[in-house]
Amino acid sequence: MIKKITKSNKINSTIRIAGDKSISHRAAILNSMAHGIAEVTNFCVGDDQESVIRCLRTLGTKIIHNVNYADDYPIHTFKIYGNGENGFKKPTEPLDCGNSGTCMRLISGLVAGQNFSSVLIGDNSLSKRPMNRIAKPLIQMGANINSLNNKDINQITAPFEISGGNLGKINYVSPVSSAQVKSCVLIAGIYADGITTFEEPSKSRDHTERMLSAMGANIKIDGTVTTIQKSKLKAQNIVIPSDISSAAFWMVLGACHPNAEILLPNIGLNPNRTGILEVLIEMGANITVNNKTTDMGEPRGDILVKSSKLKGINIDKNTIPKIIDEIPILSLAACFASTQTIIDDAEELRVKESDRIKATVTGLSKLGADIQETEQGMIINPSNKLIGNQVESYGDHRIAMMLGIAGLLSDKTTIIEGAEHASVSYPNFWDEIESKK
Ligand code: S3P
Repeated sequence: MIKKITKSNKINSTIRIAGDKSISHRAAILNSMAHGIAEVTNFCVGDDQESVIRCLRTLGTKIIHNVNYADDYPIHTFKIYGNGENGFKKPTEPLDCGNSGTCMRLISGLVAGQNFSSVLIGDNSLSKRPMNRIAKPLIQMGANINSLNNKDINQITAPFEISGGNLGKINYVSPVSSAQVKSCVLIAGIYADGITTFEEPSKSRDHTERMLSAMGANIKIDGTVTTIQKSKLKAQNIVIPSDISSAAFWMVLGACHPNAEILLPNIGLNPNRTGILEVLIEMGANITVNNKTTDMGEPRGDILVKSSKLKGINIDKNTIPKIIDEIPILSLAACFASTQTIIDDAEELRVKESDRIKATVTGLSKLGADIQETEQGMIINPSNKLIGNQVESYGDHRIAMMLGIAGLLSDKTTIIEGAEHASVSYPNFWDEIESKK
């Protein structure tokens, strides 16, 4: 699908955003392992949501989906009937994780704990992404993992088969700060004999830990070290806050546009996810946060962003895990800053839904940005203005959406190929863009 976007003159709106994708995935998976029934309200929307629900249903979980409307805005609620830790059924077909790395890596932790074998598959993009990062700890815990495309275990990618059960504890020091790897090991740790410890180089998002604590798991968190033991989980209702990673597109639009005021209600403010707010504020963005509350350990509040004068910033390894999904859109903000921005230690971006360093640099260069790729990031100099051109998403939802926002800020017309990939996390993104043109 191709989208043609032209510059907008004025933006003054309230934008409602669907539930956080990371928290939704955990609410579905952990409640499916729990005892009882839970209602998960304001669930995320999009293809990734379908992937996680499909996998859990294939494992025998009863899930009922309802949609209610608040001021014409659809609120998705999923009722998850917990199986208890061991009530899952051997799947009769592969667990299809679609485009979702979170789904594949967290579900791998779950099926590693089951006394049956499961095959995990994904789309073309997911089938290229590294799975050795979860295969290694799961094998050490006692799971059997077989490549179904003749890959060595160190290079393993989907499709693969996991035969689980009888897991033992592990003391795992992860070479990468990845919430997906951490969550996979912690979920498997629920099934393992003894105390499982996971340590990461710097703190990644902690939604799994917060939710496990609220569900009564035997879990302890000490900075970058988390320990977990066999636990019985109690199903918990949750109202999911709106997704800060989706809100980030509008925050950058509001800050970079000369005539904008955008209100984003009820956005998730987990301190491991608010890096985008901190970085934009440090760059000089006019952003305020109001009406803060907390539900199930997850803080939330309303974000108001107005036209701003930005300056450049240096970003390195301590900040990267907190803004891992926001770097493409932050790179666009850096084009509108008055001084240079350097993003370093971001090599993880090369193994996301696309090589996000290359995709960002290629797209923004085509729009006339002064941006240079480095091995682990990019260097962005101020651009006087961006000028529309033909660009592509490389099959990556966050690249497609970054280019859509760039189109609203660029002279002439921006033509985006592969715009349909936005539906992975934000199906009505282009309707929202149309209303701003
Ligand atoms: C996610 C963690 C991050 C992030 C992804 C969602 C999660 O990946 O990029 O979009 O929900 O745990 P890594 O943990 O691999 O960095």
